[in-house]
Amino acid sequence: MSDGRPIGVFDSGLGGLTVVKELFRLMPNEQIIYLGDTARCPYGGRSNETIESFGIQDASFLESKDIKLLIVACNTVSSVALEKVREQVGEIPVIGVVLPGCKAAVTRTAEKKIGVIGTRATIRASSYKKAIQSIDPSIVVYGKECPLFVPLVEEGVVNHDITYSVVQYYLYELVDSGIDCLILGCTHYPLLMEAIQGTVSSRIELIDSAMWTAKEAYDILNALDARAEEDRDGFAQSHFYITDFVPNFEKSAERFIGKKINNIELVPLDQLADLVIGK
Ligand code: DGL
Repeated sequence: MSDGRPIGVFDSGLGGLTVVKELFRLMPNEQIIYLGDTARCPYGGRSNETIESFGIQDASFLESKDIKLLIVACNTVSSVALEKVREQVGEIPVIGVVLPGCKAAVTRTAEKKIGVIGTRATIRASSYKKAIQSIDPSIVVYGKECPLFVPLVEEGVVNHDITYSVVQYYLYELVDSGIDCLILGCTHYPLLMEAIQGTVSSRIELIDSAMWTAKEAYDILNALDARAEEDRDGFAQSHFYITDFVPNFEKSAERFIGKKINNIELVPLDQLADLVIGK
């Protein structure tokens, strides 16, 4: 049996399009409904209560679109509020971006030492550490918040001398700790892959959460027998919503997904809030 309903994906902004890019690579026939909360991005430096409330609103919007799977493509919301989002959307299967990257890292670390980089809220929540140690308690996890990475990516400064200086500034302690895997625990970080790999030793494997999350979505849809028909152009049928037409949103979206998106639509913030109140 096939299921032509869309997959819902949300993020605090446009960075979650790194997950959408990987979804289309694996499943080009799937239709995506994407919501990027550009009006309130970034979430990473906010309190847990605020992150939870925003995450619930984002999820409710996608729930109203008759989706078959919800992907929380924001490490910050996945770290702080995944269970609340699950409660909100009831029957719809929900996956976050934390566990898929952890599962991959656990199978790859020979030294049993894994590094994780992310926003302040993600590292403060210890979500990666908890997920990794629930699989293998003997693994040591080193977390490092890197708050300057998101603005660098937002500005498109991904391969400049200052990028390498900032990467070096944050990562030198992790490199010295003897890790052999480093999880990119933020939607924006795949765009810094070259600068990060160029800075850390080549024996440290970078784990891209976006890629492993798309693989998890693929496995879940196959297990549920809920893939869309083969002969469909998923990208052409997809819808992309943002909560504010921030400057350069089109250029920024293109950087994350690797192609031009026409017709990005606006969903006003009060509409998101009303959906939760009206439930
Ligand atoms: N999407 C966020 C994450 O993956 C990064 C940007 C933000 O701080 O909102 O953690």
